[in-house]
Amino acid sequence: MRLLLTGSSGWLGRFFAPRLRDAGHEVIGLDVAPGADTDIVGSVADAALVERVFGERGIQAVIHAGALHKPDIVRYPAQAFVDVNLAGTGNLLRAAVEAGHDRFVFTSTTSLMITERIRAGKAGGAGRAAWLDEESGPLEPRNVYGRTKRDAELLCQAVHDQDGLDIVILRTSRFFPEDDDTHSTPSGPNLKANEFLNRRLTVEDAAQAHLVALEKAPGIGCETFIVSAPPPFAREDCEALIEDARAVIARYFPQAPELYARAGWSLPASLDRVYDPAKAERLLGFRCRTDFASVLAALERGAPLPFAHDPSYLSPKERR
Ligand SMILES: NC(=O)c1ccc[n+]([C@@H]2O[C@H](COP(=O)([O-])OP(=O)(O)OC[C@H]3O[C@@H](n4cnc5c(N)ncnc54)[C@H](O)[C@@H]3O)[C@@H](O)[C@H]2O)c1
Repeated sequence: MRLLLTGSSGWLGRFFAPRLRDAGHEVIGLDVAPGADTDIVGSVADAALVERVFGERGIQAVIHAGALHKPDIVRYPAQAFVDVNLAGTGNLLRAAVEAGHDRFVFTSTTSLMITERIRAGKAGGAGRAAWLDEESGPLEPRNVYGRTKRDAELLCQAVHDQDGLDIVILRTSRFFPEDDDTHSTPSGPNLKANEFLNRRLTVEDAAQAHLVALEKAPGIGCETFIVSAPPPFAREDCEALIEDARAVIARYFPQAPELYARAGWSLPASLDRVYDPAKAERLLGFRCRTDFASVLAALERGAPLPFAHDPSYLSPKERR
């Protein structure tokens, strides 16, 4: 198919565009920043540009990954998030409907499920970790990034209801390579490794989830899926995860404390949330290849870690 991939210069885009080509697709990349996989430098918020690209390039389906995201909150005003994440998504949806597309893939975020209360600790005073799946709600995102992604999801649903466009919404958890912009302890790869327990996936798995979504979208309706490495835990663990996550982890992975000690790393004392990606496995047949067990296996073998860590990564639009 001839695909429009937005965000083609970004972290996900640069992994995903070659994979789409390998799968036999023609990829037209659209991004505000230039990049090896970007054919058109421009904004999804520019409705006339989007219309022109569809007309001139004969686009057959859209994968909409371009966005302002969390690290951009300190760089851009709230209106820019509305223009790019909401109006931009609207421009693409409208063009897809007018072109008679049979599928649309939208990259969303698990972060829109995190309320101020969950964020405040002890899972919002509930005394148990929040077990988050696609039914969790109400959705009360704590920042403009989450709010505009939630509103773009609602727009997807509205366009599906009105025009019948089949849409897969992928709420992905973390896959960024840079350091966390708010947490600094533990730092670097230790924090990323810990996050594979409950809230991270590799960029390769994120790309693969999008490819599967593209294939499975026709006829699906409008469906939302969490994509994250499968957690080892069960819902019954949620209380203990808040109180003493290390004990729970040691129950599932008795070798973890020793492997971590050898690496000079620390396991999390408390986990406040678990993203449950079971629906994606059930309905899309997608499961992340890399999980916490893969991290431990690498530590055990002294092999390279199975995820990217690059503290110097900066979204390409900031490097211009
Ligand atoms: N990285 C993560 O951990 C993470 C987690 C959850 C969801 N996501 C989502 O995944 C998608 C890809 O993120 P990423 O990690 O590759 O980030 P990134 O910043 O590396 O890539 C996003 C790309 O979107 C482009 N972009 C920004 N505004 C645009 C506009 N107006 N028009 C066209 N392109 C525009 C940027 O230039 C950038 O190349 C985003 O939708 C993001 O919200 C990312």
